[in-house]
Amino acid sequence: MSAKKRILSGMRPTGKLHLGHLVGALENWVALQNEYENYHLIADYHALTTNVETKELYQNSIDMVIDWLAAGIDPVHSPMFRQSQIKEHAELHLIFSMLITTARLERNPTLKDQVRDLQMDLISYGHLGYPVLQAADILLYKGVVVPVGEDQVPHIEITREIARKFNNQYGEVFPEPEPKLTKFARLPGLDGDSKMSKSTGNTVLLSDSPEQILARVKTAVTDRQKIRKGDPGHPDVCLIFTYHQKFNLSEVSEIRTNCESGALGCVDCKRNCAAKIADALAPVREKRAYYEAHLDEVKAILADGERRAHAVAQETMQQVRAAMTIG
Ligand code: TRP
Repeated sequence: MSAKKRILSGMRPTGKLHLGHLVGALENWVALQNEYENYHLIADYHALTTNVETKELYQNSIDMVIDWLAAGIDPVHSPMFRQSQIKEHAELHLIFSMLITTARLERNPTLKDQVRDLQMDLISYGHLGYPVLQAADILLYKGVVVPVGEDQVPHIEITREIARKFNNQYGEVFPEPEPKLTKFARLPGLDGDSKMSKSTGNTVLLSDSPEQILARVKTAVTDRQKIRKGDPGHPDVCLIFTYHQKFNLSEVSEIRTNCESGALGCVDCKRNCAAKIADALAPVREKRAYYEAHLDEVKAILADGERRAHAVAQETMQQVRAAMTIG
């Protein structure tokens, strides 16, 4: 048994990942992988709550593993696996579903936001139970730390409640995990929306070429009061300035001065910003290309991760059944 604490992190396989995923999640996962034992879950069952295109799930999962590897996740230390391949997720989800009320799940603010944003007025029974499945994901591996964005914190709270309830009712099996919020949790979208999101198309993909990145950045909204070069700008309300703060730290004060004085125009500023993003993504793009060309290696990494995750999941389920005397 390793003495390192365990992290369980997860993402839904929605396709190729974008800058927001890199900055908001993957950089954090990579930074944590030496200090902790990291398990990385592909939440393909969770994807069924909003995405019924099951034909795409496998390819999306492979694309996501490629992006994870390209971002620097080390598969030797950190198993990557699909939820759907490990039946214990379904089993523990069912047991947990008896330990929480529907009223509690209906109060989940993340669900309320989703219902509003996606304009869904009818949600499925499974969607209501989304956090119950997430609790099973985390607790099956006894993850004590869960790196997440702000919107997922309510789900970790529900996970803690379920762990507590189980332990009280059947005996101590599960830890109560803590969320670990990412520093730069939200990279705004190129359209000025609060968040990069595939569904709104306001993203830069990790796989984009420098030309594509420039084309994407050119579409971004900037300071609306700065119409032409020479006008004094307001960097603090400018999206591109936020990006400079992340990808071009050494030039930030110079850009501020020249934007405010009017010496720097938005076209040049965007060009510079796109080049810095392209530089930051260069190593990721290179690794991506390698894995794209070595798909068998990617599939073997996934199979190995699923074998290792399954062994842990089986052990936990034995403890669960023993505690419940349904062994
Ligand atoms: N709900 C998470 C999201 O939408 C994905 C997820 C599923 C997850 N299972 C998880 C995250 C377990 C952390 C731990 O981003």
